[in-house]
Amino acid sequence: MAGFYERVIGAPLINCLCGSGFITRYRAEIVPYATGHVLELGIGSGLNLPLYDPAKVTRVTGVDPSARMRELGAARLAAAAFPVDCIGLSGEDIDLPMASIDTVVVTFSLCTIPNALRALQAAKRLLKPGGELLFLEHGRAPDPIVATWQDRLNGVWNRLACGCNLNRNMPLLIEEAGFEIQTLGQEYARGLPRLAAYLSFGRAH
Ligand SMILES: C[S@@+](CC[C@H](N)C(=O)[O-])C[C@H]1O[C@@H](n2cnc3c(N)ncnc32)[C@H](O)[C@@H]1O
Repeated sequence: MAGFYERVIGAPLINCLCGSGFITRYRAEIVPYATGHVLELGIGSGLNLPLYDPAKVTRVTGVDPSARMRELGAARLAAAAFPVDCIGLSGEDIDLPMASIDTVVVTFSLCTIPNALRALQAAKRLLKPGGELLFLEHGRAPDPIVATWQDRLNGVWNRLACGCNLNRNMPLLIEEAGFEIQTLGQEYARGLPRLAAYLSFGRAH
């Protein structure tokens, strides 16, 4: 049932919502900073691919266990102006050489990766010295009333939204993994329900 739901409803819905114009505007503020060999944690349907600067990016390696999301993004993957390879693995178990990656990109995936801390720690080990993490995530809201409802509804939301969590504190998670956040923007995105609208985006070393 979970497989059927993900395939027919969940994944196409996520692809559609995550590809909407107001989300793309946030992506466009972050993704073009990527350089060199990029590792994208939870690449999904490749919605970031058109936003990488082909003059700066040499290769994108995507990690995502969902074959269905990759299928939905097949045209974007094929159209990229640089090599894209996808590893159908979990972000927690990436098998790449240490210090081989210039930029780690993670957008709207730390909410879903079951052990997001472990995935970030694994990604950090793969970064070259001076490499950068670029992130754009929704998470725990600062307003106590919104946060309380995020906690209350997280279980139901998690099942409907293919494993997504509403209430993770993203900057804290990134710092716990050993990154130092250099720039951080935080705001409620217009156009999303408040429960899922509190965005954290920026760059970390
Ligand atoms: C909401 S989608 C976001 C996709 C894409 N990053 C974007 O910005 O559109 C969350 C993605 O996380 C992926 N995911 C779930 N568990 C994961 C894991 N353990 N490791 C890596 N990715 C995972 C899902 O398959 C899905 O593609």
